Amino acid sequence: MAVSNDASAVSSMDFKKCRKFHVFLVLVLVFVISYSVSYKWSISGRWRETVRRKVNILIWHWPFGNISTLQRDECWDSYHVPGCNLVDNRSLFPQADVVIYHNRELQNGVSKLPLDLPRLPAQKWVWLSLESPAHNGDLRRYGGLFNWTMTYRNDADISVPYGELVPRTTKGNYTIPAKKTLVCWVVSNYQSSHKRSTVYMSLKSLIPVEVYGRWANKPLNDDQVLPTISQCYFYLAFENSQHTDYITEKLWYNAFLAGTVPVVLGPPRANYEAYIPKDSFIHVDDFASITELATFLNELASDKERYNSYFRWRSDYYVKLFHSWSEQFCQICQIYERLPPRKIYDDLDSWSKHEP
Ligand SMILES: *[C@@H]1O[C@H](CO)[C@@H](O)[C@H](O)[C@H]1NC(C)=O
Ligand SMILES: *[C@@H]1O[C@H](CO)[C@@H](O)[C@H](O)[C@H]1NC(C)=O
Ligand SMILES: *[C@@H]1O[C@H](CO)[C@@H](O)[C@H](O)[C@H]1NC(C)=O
Ligand SMILES: *[C@@H]1O[C@H](CO)[C@@H](O)[C@H](O)[C@H]1NC(C)=O
Repeated sequence: MAVSNDASAVSSMDFKKCRKFHVFLVLVLVFVISYSVSYKWSISGRWRETVRRKVNILIWHWPFGNISTLQRDECWDSYHVPGCNLVDNRSLFPQADVVIYHNRELQNGVSKLPLDLPRLPAQKWVWLSLESPAHNGDLRRYGGLFNWTMTYRNDADISVPYGELVPRTTKGNYTIPAKKTLVCWVVSNYQSSHKRSTVYMSLKSLIPVEVYGRWANKPLNDDQVLPTISQCYFYLAFENSQHTDYITEKLWYNAFLAGTVPVVLGPPRANYEAYIPKDSFIHVDDFASITELATFLNELASDKERYNSYFRWRSDYYVKLFHSWSEQFCQICQIYERLPPRKIYDDLDSWSKHEP
């Protein structure tokens, strides 16, 4: 009896151990499964999205009054940027994480800052302008109001260059358009005080320069610009003023997209080289005089092999232009976590005029 009693005691202990072991196994299994599921979700990015609230970006007024219709989920539907809610309905101001103000409409009185509305302490106000310092007006009254800047400058919190070169995944095969004109320039706003006008005047006294645009009484329709410029060996991508990082569509669109070699006048060569390969352009500063520049252009146009070498970069990169305002705004969500969480521009005027 005693033996059998002992035996039953032992077997009931085994049974308890065994049940504990089963519970343990189930727990391990549940852990492994839930871990792998959550891992998969986090890989697909959906996990982060469901956990993190969308970033609300409010466009207080559209730049230059050019209103675009936003999709219900603009950033995802149009650009595949997740976690971003881009709106232009001012009644959403209290929920906005980011509010964007384009400088032009603040300056000309078309719009004004909502200084009367209560502002969330975490809400960021963005000062947006793609103009060069001389065209931003007096910004002294905007001191201590903005948290982030959005400009063409590389040291802005949100940097929006007019264009960029994107590395190709496979080698490209670029065909250089047929050439017939030596040097071309499109200019609408000609001012003799501009440095570019002085350079142009000297240059055209030495070599032929074909000028298009309002000033020359040879305006080009939007659809004529690229086909016309593509026939030129060189394009004068001359900025109207010279500032660090101020490299506009004159280079990206008129020269690069057209398939010509830009002769640039703008910031120093080293600044250009931060954006584009050194053998993709000719800098006015490369020459001791305009006469030397003119001689060089003449020689280069008649040396096919050397001329073609200015297109070599095109097998490794393609040109991406500033697309649309809404695309740029959606990009803010891509870098949102890396933007400074606390910042105030106490002296926006000085910041905007400073050359980095
Ligand atoms: C206005 O925006 C549309 C769409 O983004 C664009 O195609 C058009 O060129 C813009 N117009 C001006 C004057 O900026
Ligand atoms: C803006 O949002 C408010 C509140 O959600 C809504 O009543 C109004 O119709 C919206 N306006 C527009 C133009 O969509
Ligand atoms: C590049 O294009 C030229 C002319 O269109 C062609 O002859 C050549 O075979 C192409 N090369 C490659 C690598 O595709
Ligand atoms: C944003 O700027 C405002 C105005 O200067 C300031 O009161 C607020 O603390 C700033 N917010 C952050 C998060 O830096």
